[in-house]
Amino acid sequence: MNYTEKLPTPKEFFDLFETTGWNEKYQLSQEEYYTALQNSWYCISVYDNNQLVGFGRVICDSIVHALILDVIVHPNRQGEGIGKNIMDKLLTQCKKHQVRDIQLFSATNKAGFYEKLGFNRRKDSAPGMELKKYW
Ligand SMILES: CC(C)(COP(=O)(O)OP(=O)(O)OC[C@H]1O[C@@H](n2cnc3c(N)ncnc32)[C@H](O)[C@@H]1OP(=O)(O)O)[C@@H](O)C(=O)NCCC(=O)NCCS
Repeated sequence: MNYTEKLPTPKEFFDLFETTGWNEKYQLSQEEYYTALQNSWYCISVYDNNQLVGFGRVICDSIVHALILDVIVHPNRQGEGIGKNIMDKLLTQCKKHQVRDIQLFSATNKAGFYEKLGFNRRKDSAPGMELKKYW
């Protein structure tokens, strides 16, 4: 298994991304999503036999806030510890810069995965919030 900071190709990423169903919400093209990856602060790609089997990225201001996004393990390779390894590498990079505040949004039924890594659910008195479609 090869963990690398190099970006995958647009097609490699998009094929993995499509396994999540998340693009139903975003409706992004392969090229648009690749621009988002290029503008990330830190990315980890995981290859096995030259196949992209995992990915994760961080957007960050390098000192105060980091947001972890697109942590994806191919459905055929889940449950092997790849997701945890991706998270360890993303968090190591944040810790290297002593980023003070590390956040993420859990996908449905994935909160337990992040709780095992030390993340806490936000309090009801201080919830995460989002703006619904506004353009
Ligand atoms: C969530 C995801 C990244 C986990 O990756 P993974 O490689 O399957 O997970 P790992 O094998 O590294 O699991 C690490 C630990 O978390 C646990 N875990 C994994 N998924 C879990 C879940 N949904 N709920 C609770 N615990 C979970 C594992 O049992 C394991 O526990 P252990 O250390 O006690 O053995 C993967 O399921 C995935 O890509 N899902 C689709 C995309 C997605 O929803 N990503 C999350 C975006 S917020």
